[in-house]
Amino acid sequence: MSGLLDRRLLLVTGKGGVGKSTVAAALALRLASAGLRTLLCEVNADGRLGRLLGHPEVGADVMAVEPNLSMVDLQPDASMREYVLSKIRLERVYRAVFENRMVKYFLRFVPALAETVMLGKVMWHLRQWPDAPGGFDRIVLDLPATGHALTLLGVPHGLIATLPSGPMSTEAGWMYDLLTDPVMTSAILVSLPEDLPVNETLELAQALRTRLKVRVGAVVLNQSVASRFGAADRAALAGRPGLGALVEAYEEDAQRTEESVERLHAIDAPLVQLPRLVAPELGRGELVSLGDALAEALR
Ligand SMILES: Nc1ncnc2c1ncn2[C@@H]1O[C@H](COP(=O)(O)OP(=O)(O)OP(=O)(O)O)[C@@H](O)[C@H]1O
Ligand SMILES: [Mg+2]
Repeated sequence: MSGLLDRRLLLVTGKGGVGKSTVAAALALRLASAGLRTLLCEVNADGRLGRLLGHPEVGADVMAVEPNLSMVDLQPDASMREYVLSKIRLERVYRAVFENRMVKYFLRFVPALAETVMLGKVMWHLRQWPDAPGGFDRIVLDLPATGHALTLLGVPHGLIATLPSGPMSTEAGWMYDLLTDPVMTSAILVSLPEDLPVNETLELAQALRTRLKVRVGAVVLNQSVASRFGAADRAALAGRPGLGALVEAYEEDAQRTEESVERLHAIDAPLVQLPRLVAPELGRGELVSLGDALAEALR
């Protein structure tokens, strides 16, 4: 259908709490199980995805955790340190300069710097061809919620527009080229069947396409509810204490799902509905089944 899973960099984003990490983890498990060497990255999330997948040891360094699956929790400070050390190779100098209070104070006014370096770390892996050491077939990036994600992805573009040519704008240049290359990169927008998340998804799609020139590869309507009870069932259950209200609430959610589907069709990208699962907490079994559903829909 969309060939989405052929893109090497999959950017998962959406409003806070809509299921971005769930979708990113489900996709990564699925890609890895298909034999693709996959890197699942989260951003400054205190290792949440690692815990979700049973790998609490995942931190700021890329770590192989399962066959074909590596993970990392990107942290701006740690990425910065790694980057600078890879250039100057002297821990002592790094500490003297970057851990100096005055320098730290100034760095806070160059917020794009840490973000560029962090994004650069992910994209460095993308630049390596899959058969190079450290190369991955697929990178799934669980981005922060909308506003922060747009800021992060907008950094290379912003730098190119403002900086004179030099090493920093060269770095920004190749990142921008990869992010905006529709063969390489695609965004997956996660939404929920409610007004506000749908509004935000429509705005996000617009911002990604027009402002950042990033391809939107799919919209995922997470926690979709399918109508189950017809008018006759509802009439028969209406008088039953408790049950009637439950069925009505369920059908209202199904109605909201239908309305959301209709509104999200305004985005020119495949729409995938993932079901609302009933479980106290989603575990690996649920993630695998969501991953299968995504792969099936996005073939
Ligand atoms: N399809 C689903 N069915 C049932 N529960 C779900 C589903 N998808 C996600 N959830 C639950 O919803 C909650 C939020 O999901 P998740 O953490 O993936 O969202 P997020 O967008 O990454 O949030 P944040 O913005 O905080 O990073 C979690 O408790 C998760 O288990
Ligand atoms: Mg998350």
